[in-house]
Amino acid sequence: MLKTSIGIFDSGLGGLSVMKAIRKELPGENLIYFGDCQYAPYGDRSQAFITNRVLAITDFLMNQRIKALVFACNTATMMSIAEVRKRLKIPVIGIEPAIKPAIKESQTGCIGVMATTRTIQSSRFSWLIEQFVQKGSRVIPQACPGLADAVESGQNNEPHTKELIKKYTLPFIENHCDRIVLGCTHYPLLTDQILEVFPPETVKLIDPSDAVARQLKRRLIEIQGLSSNSVGSESFWISGLTDRTKVAVEQLWGTPIVVQNANIFSVLENLPNQVSSNGRSFDSNPF
Ligand code: DGL
Repeated sequence: MLKTSIGIFDSGLGGLSVMKAIRKELPGENLIYFGDCQYAPYGDRSQAFITNRVLAITDFLMNQRIKALVFACNTATMMSIAEVRKRLKIPVIGIEPAIKPAIKESQTGCIGVMATTRTIQSSRFSWLIEQFVQKGSRVIPQACPGLADAVESGQNNEPHTKELIKKYTLPFIENHCDRIVLGCTHYPLLTDQILEVFPPETVKLIDPSDAVARQLKRRLIEIQGLSSNSVGSESFWISGLTDRTKVAVEQLWGTPIVVQNANIFSVLENLPNQVSSNGRSFDSNPF
C-alpha cells in the first residue's frame, strides 16, 4: 500500500499551529493530526514518560502508513526525537526554539525564550544557546508551567492566564528583550494575550512553524514524495476526546471537521511521571 500522508503530533492542541503552517505550505498533502490530550501537558513530565507516549503515538501514525512524521511539540522533540529517528526510515522533522533567527534579528542583543520546563532543562536547549549566542548577546530562558494547560482548557482569556503571562514575561521587559521565541507550540495560540503585555513596536514574537513546514517540504522533495494533488485531506485524532476538546479543535482549525477519539496505550506503569526536584534524576532512558 502506498504511503500518502504526513503524520503530525503534539501533546495536545498546540501542534495545530504547526499543522496550519504545513497546510499553507503544502496544500496538496494528506495530513493526519494526533493530539495526546489525555496526557497533556508533557512539559513537566519525565523524559521516560514522554518517550513512552511518543513511541506509542509513532506506532499509531505508522500504522496509518505515513510518509513523513512531524513532531509539532518542542518538548517531545527535545526528549525523544533521537530515539524515534533511530527507529524510523521516513523523514522525521522536529521543532525547537528558534534561537538562531531571534539572535540574528535582535537589535538590543537580548532575546527571551518561553518554553516548557522540560525544554528549558534539556541538553539540546543548552546546546542551542552555546551554538548561536555570541558574545554581546543574551538569552533569558523562561519556563512557563500552566500556559499549555490554559490553552488545553480554553482559558486563554481568563485573568489567571494573563497574570501568568505577565509574571513570565516580566524578566524580558526588565532586560529589554526585543524578540521573544515561542518555544512551545501552544504559545502561538496565546499571541494576542502575550502582545497585550508589550507595546507591539517593542517586541516581535518568533514562531518557527513556517520554518518547520518549509523543512518538511524540502525533505519530501528529497525523497520524491511530494503529492501531486492540488487539495489534500485532514484527519484529526485525539486521546481522551471530550465534547469540549472536539469544539476546541474545530475552532482552532477554523472549518467544520470530524474529530475522532484514539486511545493509545503505552507502558506507563512504573515510569517516573514528573520532573524530579533537581530536574535531573529522571534521565534514565528505558529503551
Ligand atoms: N506543545 C508542546 C511544546 O511545543 C508541549 C506543551 C506541553 O505539553 O507541556 O513544547
